[in-house]
Amino acid sequence: MVTFILNNELISTGKPTGSSLLDFIRYDMGLTGTKTGCREGDCGACTVLAGSLTGSTVVYRSTLSCLMPLGNAHGKHIVTIEGINTGHLSHIQHAMVDNGAIQCGFCTPGIVMSLVAESASARTTTAESAIAATAGNICRCTGYKSIRRAADAIADAMREKDTADPVRWLVENKQLPEYFLTIPERLASIPGLTETEDSGIMIAGGTDLMVRNADELAESDIVTLYDRKELKGIRVEGGRCIIGASVTISEAGESETLKKYIPEISSYIRLIASEPVRNMATIAGNIVNASPIGDITIILLALNAEVTTGGSRDSRTLPLRELFLGYKKLDLAAEEYIRCISFTYQPEPALFSFEKVSRRTHLDIASVNSAMHVVMNGDLIAGCHLSAGGVSPVPLYLEKTGAFLTGRPVSAEIVLQAYEVMQQEISPISDARGSAEYKRLLLRQLILAHFLKLFPEKINLSTVQL
Ligand SMILES: Cc1cc2nc3c(=O)[nH]c(=O)nc-3n(C[C@H](O)[C@H](O)[C@H](O)COP(=O)(O)OP(=O)(O)OC[C@H]3O[C@@H](n4cnc5c(N)ncnc54)[C@H](O)[C@@H]3O)c2cc1C
Ligand code: FES
Ligand code: FES
Repeated sequence: MVTFILNNELISTGKPTGSSLLDFIRYDMGLTGTKTGCREGDCGACTVLAGSLTGSTVVYRSTLSCLMPLGNAHGKHIVTIEGINTGHLSHIQHAMVDNGAIQCGFCTPGIVMSLVAESASARTTTAESAIAATAGNICRCTGYKSIRRAADAIADAMREKDTADPVRWLVENKQLPEYFLTIPERLASIPGLTETEDSGIMIAGGTDLMVRNADELAESDIVTLYDRKELKGIRVEGGRCIIGASVTISEAGESETLKKYIPEISSYIRLIASEPVRNMATIAGNIVNASPIGDITIILLALNAEVTTGGSRDSRTLPLRELFLGYKKLDLAAEEYIRCISFTYQPEPALFSFEKVSRRTHLDIASVNSAMHVVMNGDLIAGCHLSAGGVSPVPLYLEKTGAFLTGRPVSAEIVLQAYEVMQQEISPISDARGSAEYKRLLLRQLILAHFLKLFPEKINLSTVQL
């Protein structure tokens, strides 16, 4: 049985754990404030809050109910637009009304829930963070100016927010109903989900599988990896950073451990999907969906990461780059899953760069992406790991280009010579994201961008013909 709290009500259901939370909310519970739009994670109309007990408090994150398998709701507090009613309009709702940010209203519950998640977060709410929180919400009517004005008003209303205990602050200021204060104790009394065998369809965040396989999953029980404690957390052990397979993309972006090594990690992560997708999508899910342009995979390839497997077979550790055998074909048996991903780590900034070209800056997948990690020995490159997405059937580790650069000094001329090696390693095809020729050109520019970012003083563009 899946047990969770839906707004102020304890729910236990025997519905298939692979069916969508959205259908349960709307068709079983009759809570039609949550809207059905694209069912693919693109429109945000179905946004709800998912609150997880963390210590003695509940951490709320925006979540797309269309992509959330019901099994992932177990033990959580799920909040729909109906669950935030206090009998009067909250600051967020007022800001939307007062600034003309509502016309047909179809998108409004989703936008309000994204903003409630932002206000319930432990960060300071600013106009920028409020807008960023709604990056996954599409509105066809208002034009976004009025939503921006609402975001300004919300930031103003949240000025005094207590970031140490935001939910209590919201309740005390009559922005959330009082029952929210009873939730931690009520969640603590829900026993863990009785796991099915490790032989069903494995799902982590669901942001890939629920798009591709929704009909089959609606009738199925799943093996949910999302909340397994042994697959969570980021730690350092023996000079390696170990990332649990089910760490979400948001958690990776917030990790102090990762920030010490890659100070720009949060801004790189913001280029991936939207906030609710990042709140659900996991690191291992990004690897196993095996998209040739998976952003997290491209970052991990340049960190020369290894994956460690779990499951009924003997555990093994292999370089991430060896996991990809061909288009969407992985060296992973049906009885295996990814337990963790690890890479060599020091608690000081690495020479690391990630670049992504997409048609829009946010909520778009890459045409071509690339990452580079360099270790220097004096003036010479002592080690170089380069990766590229969108230029081959698999997320590509540019072994020959990295080897060419190793042992050489950094200069514009060397980068030009490296292009020639790189062009032999890639095999882009023409598709909706651009012609093969365009992708070759893009990757060339991205590699130059890595060097310009990491070695601005050593790359003199006036000495080379670009
Ligand atoms: C709207 C939208 C925008 C997106 N934008 C981007 C983007 O900009 N960049 C990008 O890179 N991706 C993007 N994605 C893709 C998304 O990031 C990936 O789908 C996500 O990382 C998958 O993780 P998940 O946990 O949700 O996977 P799931 O859907 O749960 O699973 C995906 C696959 O991985 C398998 N799996 C999951 N965990 C494990 C494990 N531990 N061991 C073995 N197998 C496992 C599942 O069985 C399944 O086959 C987007 C997706 C959506 C819906
Ligand atoms: S219905 Fe569009 S994101 Fe869920
Ligand atoms: S108000 Fe109509 S879609 Fe936003």
